[in-house]
Amino acid sequence: MEVIIRPTKQAAIKLAAQLIAKSVRRKPHFVLGLATGATMEGVYDELARMHSAEKLDFSRCHTFNLDEYVGVPPESPFSYHEYMRKHLFSRVNIHPLCAHLPNGMAPDLAAECRHYEHLMREVGGVDLQLLGIGRDGHIGFNEPLSALRSRTREKALTPSTLAANVKFFGGDMDKMPRRAITMGVGTILEAHNCLMLVTGDSKADILARAVEGPITSMVTASALQLHPHCQVIVDEEAAANLQGKDYYRWIFENEPEWAPYRA
Ligand code: F6R
Repeated sequence: MEVIIRPTKQAAIKLAAQLIAKSVRRKPHFVLGLATGATMEGVYDELARMHSAEKLDFSRCHTFNLDEYVGVPPESPFSYHEYMRKHLFSRVNIHPLCAHLPNGMAPDLAAECRHYEHLMREVGGVDLQLLGIGRDGHIGFNEPLSALRSRTREKALTPSTLAANVKFFGGDMDKMPRRAITMGVGTILEAHNCLMLVTGDSKADILARAVEGPITSMVTASALQLHPHCQVIVDEEAAANLQGKDYYRWIFENEPEWAPYRA
């Protein structure tokens, strides 16, 4: 695992978008794993900007989102389908048939989950999985005690996740679904590369537990410590509780691979 600390949220977002863009340029048939949530909005703004200003081309990419709420139709303003349409898909040239999200309205949710895994395997697996972290340490909607080898499945949301996400439902807890389909921790760990973006002081405590604490299903993001190619990009606020932050800063300032991003 590699932790990169950037001075501000905007700089962290920019670096995450630059790394994604570099990978997409290198391999046009790129398979990109996507996340939703407030943290990702800036990344999608930056990718959209690169698409129009720098000709970043997604036309041959496939995308797979981590999760979708159960019982929320794709056309609902609260669905992750709609979030993705608004923040990314309507602004870049990803082919609609290649932009995949789980269907939270499927009559047989277990079959839908198996089908989703099948689709990912069919395109050769996810090249790069973009991730945020929840206040309870989740990646995707892998809430505490999710098996670290879990696959795509239905999962009940914790009170902490409900409280964090109710803002996307106009603050109305009655509108909030209680369950979601999510890629499993095991599914996420099979991505060839993982890129977790974490910003803001509200994530400082959980980030330190995920990155420097023990690997535990109580903090499913800690399973990323097992991944051979995982980069964690954070801003100074989120990095506040990291014990190794001087070392992480040294890596960014001195390792040749980061030279193009230091300016
Ligand atoms: C959603 C997802 C979640 C979020 C996490 C952080 O697709 O994968 O794990 O990344 O809940 O959300 P924000 O960025 O809103 O704090």
